[in-house]
Amino acid sequence: MPTIPALEMNDGLPIPQIGFGVWQVPDDVVTDATLTAFECGYRHVDTAALYYNEGGVGRAIAASGLGRDELFITTKVWNTDHGYDTTLKAMDKSLGLLGLDYVDLYLIHWPSPATGDFLATWDAVLALRDRGLTRSVGVSNFHVSHLESIIERFGVVPAVDQIELHPWLPQAGIRAFCAQHGILTEAWSPLASGALLDDPGLVAVGAKYGKTAAQVMIRWHLELGNVVLPKSVTPERIRQNIDVFDFGLDAEDFALIAALESGHRTGPNPDEFM
Ligand code: A2P
Repeated sequence: MPTIPALEMNDGLPIPQIGFGVWQVPDDVVTDATLTAFECGYRHVDTAALYYNEGGVGRAIAASGLGRDELFITTKVWNTDHGYDTTLKAMDKSLGLLGLDYVDLYLIHWPSPATGDFLATWDAVLALRDRGLTRSVGVSNFHVSHLESIIERFGVVPAVDQIELHPWLPQAGIRAFCAQHGILTEAWSPLASGALLDDPGLVAVGAKYGKTAAQVMIRWHLELGNVVLPKSVTPERIRQNIDVFDFGLDAEDFALIAALESGHRTGPNPDEFM
C-alpha cells in the first residue's frame, strides 16, 4: 500500500498530497467508494456541502476504524451560505453530517463575486479556526484579485487555493501567485473530468513507464507541487490513482503536456459564477 507524502501548509500543518475527490459521487455511493479509498491508502478526503454527500463520507469515516488524527478531511461553505452568521451555521451542519468535531481544512467554495460576500465569509472561516472547528483555512476557485482582497483586508493568507487545474488549464498565473505567497495550489478535475484520458500523447508517455494517462496526469500534478484530488468510484481506478510513486516524468514529457494547454475549462469561470 503506497504511503502518500504530505506537503506542509503555511500554518505548519501537513496535508497529504493526493486526496480522494468526491464531487458528483452520490451520497449512497460515496461510503463504499471512500472505504475503498481508505483501504487503498488514501487518508485525505475532499468533500463540500454542495456535494450533498458529507453524510456518506461521515459514515465511511465512522466505519473505517481509522483514528481521527490519521485522517485529513476537507469541506467547503457553499455560495448561498456566504456571510458571517450563515457560514458559522453551515459549518455546524457540515460537522453534524460528517460526524466530526472538527475538519482539517475549511474552504470558501467560490468567491461568488456577484451575489456572495467572500470577505464576511472569510471573517467567519477565521472565527471557526479560532474556535477549533477547523484546523486550517483556505479558499477555492479564487483568482488573484480575490486572493489579494482577503489578504489585504485580513492579513491572513489562506493555506490553499483549490482551482480547476489540468493539462488544458495549467493555471500558471494563479500557481505563481500562490507560490510567492506560500499558498498551496490544489487541483480539482485534475484529469479534466476524464476528457484527457484517451489523449494519444498522454497515453504514449504512460506507455514509456507502464502507466496510464491518468497516472501520468497525477504524476504531473505531484511534480508541479499541486495537491491533487482525483475522483473515481471504480475500485481499480481508485487504487491506480495512487500507484504513482515509482516513476518520474522527464523534460520531454513535460514539454508534451505543456503543449496540451488550450485554456479550455470543464467548469465555470469563477469571475462569472453565481
Ligand atoms: P469513475 O468515477 O467512473 O471511475 P476528475 O478527477 O478530473 O474529475 O476525473 C474524474 C473522471 O475520470 C471520472 O469520470 C472517473 O471515472 C474517471 N477516472 C478517474 N480515475 C481514472 C483512471 N485511473 N482511469 C480512467 N478513468 C478514471
